[in-house]
Amino acid sequence: MDFSKVEKIKEQAARDILEAKTTSSLKEIFNRYLGKKGIVAKQFFYLKKMPQPKRSEFGKQLNELKKSIEKRIKEKSRIIEGKDSREKRKIHKIDVSIPSKKPQLGHIHPLTKIIRETQDAFVGMGFSVEEGPEIETEHYNFSSLNFPVDHPSRDAHDTFYLKKDTILRTHTSPVQVRYMEKHNPPFRIIVPGRVFRHEATDSSHEIQFYQLEGLMVGKDISLANLKGVLEEAIKRVFGKKTVFRWRPGYFPFVEPGVEIDIACPICGGKGCSTCKNTGWIEVLGAGMVHPNVFKAAGYNPKNWQGFAFGFGIDRLAMIKYRISDIRMFYLSDMRFLSQF
Ligand code: PHE
Repeated sequence: MDFSKVEKIKEQAARDILEAKTTSSLKEIFNRYLGKKGIVAKQFFYLKKMPQPKRSEFGKQLNELKKSIEKRIKEKSRIIEGKDSREKRKIHKIDVSIPSKKPQLGHIHPLTKIIRETQDAFVGMGFSVEEGPEIETEHYNFSSLNFPVDHPSRDAHDTFYLKKDTILRTHTSPVQVRYMEKHNPPFRIIVPGRVFRHEATDSSHEIQFYQLEGLMVGKDISLANLKGVLEEAIKRVFGKKTVFRWRPGYFPFVEPGVEIDIACPICGGKGCSTCKNTGWIEVLGAGMVHPNVFKAAGYNPKNWQGFAFGFGIDRLAMIKYRISDIRMFYLSDMRFLSQF
């Protein structure tokens, strides 16, 4: 048996081990050299047949060969496994214990919220919800509502004119007449919607805002009914303890006319810029439907009585959510909107 064979095996094994890239190929190399019927085992087979002292010398070399291959395989396996687990760590870098990002959910606009709440209060009292056009004629917006032609009260509404006789509605009251033209009493309706006025803006005035109109018509509807319905609505929307007051008010389409103020929630009634230092915020106009309005709608005023009211929706939202500036509703500022 020649001793150079041992050297050759050693070199070949070293090369094979160097080239091995996976744990399984390393295992295969182990079996090929050190397995029961492997290359090294075969040499041990020859060893048995050798005479002394060659035999002990060769035995020593074979043992060394075996050890050196084992050592190299162990080292290489450590390298491969290290790499493997490093790779694995890279792939499985997801830390499942970290709380995930919250999906951005939409928010309900505070005006939508208060419209829904106010609607619910009235629907609970038997009112149905109607709508009307934002682009109106002077007839429906003014004339049919008993505004005299060329009367300064038309100017007071700071109307946006689109063309002669065509305007952006300045209030939701024209829907009263539009509805009465098509329906017979008795009925009770509410009409939420957007209105427009060409005014200077400040913390309580915007050029566009929302109103919620109401109209109840029947044989013997009285001012007491108006009072009862509106007080109940205010309690339902703002709570039973809400502080509010009634005032006489003038609107050409009602007689008598009234207004309701709610105690300013921003200053608690002491006076601030939101309530113009009065301690009160005007939230609605109302009154008994004027006979001329019934006439304009084709009703005989002798047969019917009714009351009408118009809430300033933005004002309601300002009071309920303690918002000191009406302009916040129309800025689309996420820092504001995401609070609701
Ligand atoms: N339309 C009136 C306004 O815009 C409010 C109102 C409605 C008053 C109905 C009386 C009756 O100020």
